[in-house]
Amino acid sequence: MEDYLSVALPKGRLGEKVLALFRKAGIADIDIANVGRKLCIEDEAAKLRFILVKPYDSAVFVERGAADIGVCGYDVLVEQHSDVYELLDLGFGKCAMCVAAPKDFKDEPARPLRVATKYACAAEEFFASKGRDIDIIKLNGSIEPAPILGLSDVIFDIVETGSTLKENHLEVVEKAFDISARFIANKSSYNFKNAEIMRITKLLAEAATEI
Ligand code: PRP
Repeated sequence: MEDYLSVALPKGRLGEKVLALFRKAGIADIDIANVGRKLCIEDEAAKLRFILVKPYDSAVFVERGAADIGVCGYDVLVEQHSDVYELLDLGFGKCAMCVAAPKDFKDEPARPLRVATKYACAAEEFFASKGRDIDIIKLNGSIEPAPILGLSDVIFDIVETGSTLKENHLEVVEKAFDISARFIANKSSYNFKNAEIMRITKLLAEAATEI
């Protein structure tokens, strides 16, 4: 058991893409489609233990050493200031963190801007860098209705295709930063299990460029 490397794998669409890349790179071959409620899956041949976590939590598992390596979105690294090594940009899971507002929105610089978001730290930092005072309204999802219902002036959220904004009559005011999936490692694991982590990193990098 001890020579296994543990991998924090985000559940859902991102995780499926990560597993496809691991398969393509010849690193591991597991199927999570029919695992039911099981949250730890081992690939005996590859000596890898996959831990299925919420996408927002995978950097926490890696930072705290519950997983040696993992994949998370760049948004999570920015929001959580995760103390991990970022080894690769995997080039998928692309989207952007944006400020969006109703089409008739006009900023009133005299009062704090009310910003609805799941990403309170990233929003604070983004608007602080512009010298704009804000009032954060922290939500856990379904951010888009906030400005429509008068709960906020703008939202600070992820935009991928833009269809959620469109369907809620919002538009992008400004892009804060680009996002993609990142391959990360626990700092101590990186030192003590360096050869194996570097081997996997190299294989992933080669397979990722072929996508
Ligand atoms: C994210 C984000 C937007 C939507 C953007 O939500 O918060 O609501 O995706 O995608 P689009 O530009 O392709 O429409 P997610 O689906 O992750 O759910 P959540 O609201 O629970 O965070």
